[in-house]
Amino acid sequence: MPTLVFIVAAYLIGSLSFAVIVSKSFGLADPRSFGSKNPGATNVLRTGKKLAAVLTLLGDAAKGWLAVFLALRFGAGYGVGEAGVAAVVLAVFLGHVYPLFFGFHGGKGVATALGILLALNVWLGLAVLATWLLAAYMWRTSSLSALIAACFAPLYGYAILGLGYYTLAIVLLSLLLLWRHKSNIQNLLSGKETRIGNKPQAGD
Ligand code: G3P
Repeated sequence: MPTLVFIVAAYLIGSLSFAVIVSKSFGLADPRSFGSKNPGATNVLRTGKKLAAVLTLLGDAAKGWLAVFLALRFGAGYGVGEAGVAAVVLAVFLGHVYPLFFGFHGGKGVATALGILLALNVWLGLAVLATWLLAAYMWRTSSLSALIAACFAPLYGYAILGLGYYTLAIVLLSLLLLWRHKSNIQNLLSGKETRIGNKPQAGD
């Protein structure tokens, strides 16, 4: 029962879409209505308001971090084991992707995944972040960087945490993240994907 409380709390924390909250408080258009229509930091950046994009990134990462931190820090006292924490990982991620408070229209999970991984193991999170940054430096494309980082995340997870519930959760999280980037993959393949900070081409 306590495990279920942590899982539900994680889903609700994940359901806070900072792209929508931050955009509203800055008086910007709803990110679900323009660009890639994705409520995420990359799309908020397309408004040209860098601070709003940074706050979206930090908010979405912080909620992933917080849910997992709470489960790790306080869960053990309530009998929440490794499988329970792995379920919390998936719950907060699912909350972001399918948020209860925002019509189940959520984001693609990149920032939230980063926060989750940092909470699970700081070196794991930093390795994934470094992979994203390196790919972004090379190709200047947010989605491509996320796809590459998502492919490496389970490998880093296995190397750092070994085989177990956490690595299994990271595999599932990466698969969902890849699946949420379907439209980006199509755009990448057709050469239409926008670069970081650019507005999408007409018709995208
Ligand atoms: O943060 C999601 C990113 O990988 C892609 O965002 O808006 O270009 O679909 P977007």
